[in-house]
Amino acid sequence: MADPQFPSLNDTCAGCALSAARILAAQRTVSLGRAVEYYTAIDSTNRRALEWAAEGAPDGALVIAEEQTAGRGRLGRRWHAPACSALLFSLVLRPDMEPTQAQRLTMICSLGVLEAIEQVAGLQAQVKWPNDVVIDGRKAGGILTELAFQGHALRHSVVGIGLNVNLDVSVLPDVLVPAASLMSAAGGPISREDLLSLTLAAIERRYLQMAQGWSPHAEWREHLATLGTHVRAGTPGDVLEGLAVDVDADGALLVLDDRGEQHRVLAGDVTLRGHSL
Ligand code: BTN
Repeated sequence: MADPQFPSLNDTCAGCALSAARILAAQRTVSLGRAVEYYTAIDSTNRRALEWAAEGAPDGALVIAEEQTAGRGRLGRRWHAPACSALLFSLVLRPDMEPTQAQRLTMICSLGVLEAIEQVAGLQAQVKWPNDVVIDGRKAGGILTELAFQGHALRHSVVGIGLNVNLDVSVLPDVLVPAASLMSAAGGPISREDLLSLTLAAIERRYLQMAQGWSPHAEWREHLATLGTHVRAGTPGDVLEGLAVDVDADGALLVLDDRGEQHRVLAGDVTLRGHSL
């Protein structure tokens, strides 16, 4: 059951274009976004999607909100966006894959977002390793993948995507990485409905290909802004500086330090040396 604290499921937000019915009608997909929960406000779409997944939500179920009161970011951070200005959604995915390959889910979602941004806004966005969507080095979006296990097997996963669409980034709290919005980069407002339906279609195409054995790694690698740059990677108990030389098959970043030693960074936060990316 949805949290009664957020009873606005299936409402339409006054003044906003989105609603569950419109989202469903706009879909170009077979399974992604075919079951939808739409909230005008919720704590976190990832939190609700994990709950719904545990209750049996189908593969591709979508939780979307106009506003989050406790949006989750990576590394325990918060994700902020003014109401009705962003795309804030989470997908329940039930792939048949080893947990070690789960980063591929983030890869296909990043690639889907990039493709849709280009289609809708004509902008060339990139991925800042591991999960940021950047435009000209500024962060326009982020992805948070959360996994649930049964024993050692992957039970289900939730990929949460936050994109700054029609917002003035000066209203966002000070953050490590300078923010961008699609509207400011494109010079005009962007249809969130089109962006959502094209993103879901672009993710679904890759999700289906992946089920047939395709790996998104090569395509994802091509779209990384991080390779060839000097990075500062926060690893547990240590900070590593060096040149980001490559990413391996599991999505880990390979960093060459000043002594010529190569390190494998799995879950750090990376900034360009000297200034934030
Ligand atoms: C990051 O860059 O730290 C990842 C941010 C992910 C934010 C999105 S917004 C929709 C979904 N629900 C959440 O609570 N978080 C993700």
